[in-house]
Amino acid sequence: MEKLKILFAVVFSVATASAASLGVVQTEGGGVQGRNIPLGFFRSVDVFKGIPFAAKPGTFEKPRPHPGWDGILKATKFAPRCLQLSILQTSSFGSEDCLYLNIWVPHGRQVSSGLPVMIWLYGGGFMAGGSMGPNFLNNYLYSGQEIADKGGVIIVSVGYRVGSLGFLSTGDSLLPGNYGLWDQQAAIAWVHRNIRSFGGDPDNVTLFGESAGGASVSFQTLSPHNKGLFKRAISQSGVAFCPWAMIKNPRKIAEEVAEKVGCPIDDRMVACLKSTNAKNLTMASPGITPGNPDDPLVTKLQLGPVVDGDFLPDQPANLLHNAAEVDYLAGVNDMDGHLFTSADISSLRDKNQETSVEDIKRLLAAYTKGMGSAALEIAFAEYSSNWGSTPSQESIKRAAVDLGTDYLFLVPAQTAIYLHAANAGSGRTYSYRLSEPSLMAGPGKPYYDWIGADHMDDLQFVFGKPFTTPKAYGDRHRDLSDYFIAYWTNFARTGNPNKGNLKVPVTWPAFTTTEQQFLDINAKMNESSIQQDMRQRFVRLWTSTLPSLLSHGAAAAQ
Ligand SMILES: *[C@@H]1O[C@H](CO)[C@@H](O)[C@H](O)[C@H]1NC(C)=O
Ligand SMILES: *[C@@H]1O[C@H](CO)[C@@H](O)[C@H](O)[C@H]1NC(C)=O
Ligand SMILES: *[C@@H]1O[C@H](CO)[C@@H](O)[C@H](O)[C@H]1NC(C)=O
Repeated sequence: MEKLKILFAVVFSVATASAASLGVVQTEGGGVQGRNIPLGFFRSVDVFKGIPFAAKPGTFEKPRPHPGWDGILKATKFAPRCLQLSILQTSSFGSEDCLYLNIWVPHGRQVSSGLPVMIWLYGGGFMAGGSMGPNFLNNYLYSGQEIADKGGVIIVSVGYRVGSLGFLSTGDSLLPGNYGLWDQQAAIAWVHRNIRSFGGDPDNVTLFGESAGGASVSFQTLSPHNKGLFKRAISQSGVAFCPWAMIKNPRKIAEEVAEKVGCPIDDRMVACLKSTNAKNLTMASPGITPGNPDDPLVTKLQLGPVVDGDFLPDQPANLLHNAAEVDYLAGVNDMDGHLFTSADISSLRDKNQETSVEDIKRLLAAYTKGMGSAALEIAFAEYSSNWGSTPSQESIKRAAVDLGTDYLFLVPAQTAIYLHAANAGSGRTYSYRLSEPSLMAGPGKPYYDWIGADHMDDLQFVFGKPFTTPKAYGDRHRDLSDYFIAYWTNFARTGNPNKGNLKVPVTWPAFTTTEQQFLDINAKMNESSIQQDMRQRFVRLWTSTLPSLLSHGAAAAQ
């Protein structure tokens, strides 16, 4: 027995001792040394944390190249997040010096080379977030380790400025905005220039991101500044067409921030803002406060990308030619809106409270504001069409969740997917919907048993949490996580989610404008997971029926 133990110990230490590792890697700024994590026999991951991809940015300036360093940079600790408001919005945390990225490189028996690369852009409403994500159970949500190891791809996660520092704009050339998008772009360009030294293929780069990160991915594909820097893109629950993704009147917000920090609202305003302390600018960011049905949460997201005539030369709908050669995979969670509508209508998530029809009408009125009174009636008729004369609480609550999901995520995603396919050259298009029930739903749990995939529910599966923290999950969640990692990394490797290193449960057909196929993703997949025309009736309502009211002057008549 003792002998056997020693034998195992010897075999194991030989295996780990001989595990491949990059050691010190030379980058354009200097040498970096990460940490090698052995994962089993002849498998390991090299992790590099906190590599600078740009210098500490000036306030309201585009990122500039990093001057480099002498000696070897120890890349073993995550850099601070970009300066942002705390959850309670009574203080700020993070740093102005935040343009750093992290890299996970998987190895087998030999040191890797020519691997596909995936760059992660985090969400957080353009107001918050960090490249490593929240930490729970001593595990960072956006650790790239599981995806890198299982999928045989390099994962890179990047920091970008958020809040006032990332997105304040006067709507003109004095303070054009989009600083956070320029940061992301600088990281993408850095990866293109340096990733070969880490064993990556600079011509095989895929962007992926969720929520504001998914919208960021979409903006990066639409900008003319990324030619040749990446091949593919994945948007999870967020695209450039979301009503919260672009700010239409940035000047108004800039003036509000100026007022809060004591800058004059005249031709001295921009110079004054630029010389204001970064913490004070962050604290002056318009906060995200709980909504109500008349003034929903989405209207409080007041900082974000703008048409600046440079990064975004025009409205997204006029920039699709820039994405024509990019393979694009995008989708939503089937109840993405739940988190938001239950912030606006608090009775929604409470099993002991009734939600009134009036609340739905008020929320719908807020969403259709400016489209005329006919819009509210027409939209309400659609969302209540299956109610009968006395709607059940479930019907009413479901309608509220559907309404939020459609307006905030699903319909804009269908627009992005359709337009990508319609304008594509060589680029392929794939569409999905996640329909896995929420882990918080069911008897004895906080949510109704009919609650499906809420906003952010996809993250845990994409990042392999059912494997890293197995006790919190069941086998079905490990199956689902395997499916996500297979589709996502195959797509990164070949541009086709079905072809690559990993087996998939169902062949996912590409989306075409005529067939409009999509994959319904959950733990129990079979041929019937391939579907068509996602919520077509509601997509038509929001993209055709309601806008046509406007163009016929119904709003003007108000
Ligand atoms: C990307 O990687 C795959 C697999 O290693 C390879 O077949 C392909 O040629 C690479 N390049 C591009 C541009 O797709
Ligand atoms: C920042 O704000 C605080 C509190 O309003 C103020 O006392 C301080 O002077 C400001 N600092 C700068 C550099 O503007
Ligand atoms: C596919 O799965 C669904 C849900 O689990 C099930 O209802 C259906 O019968 C299955 N269809 C086939 C063809 O196996």
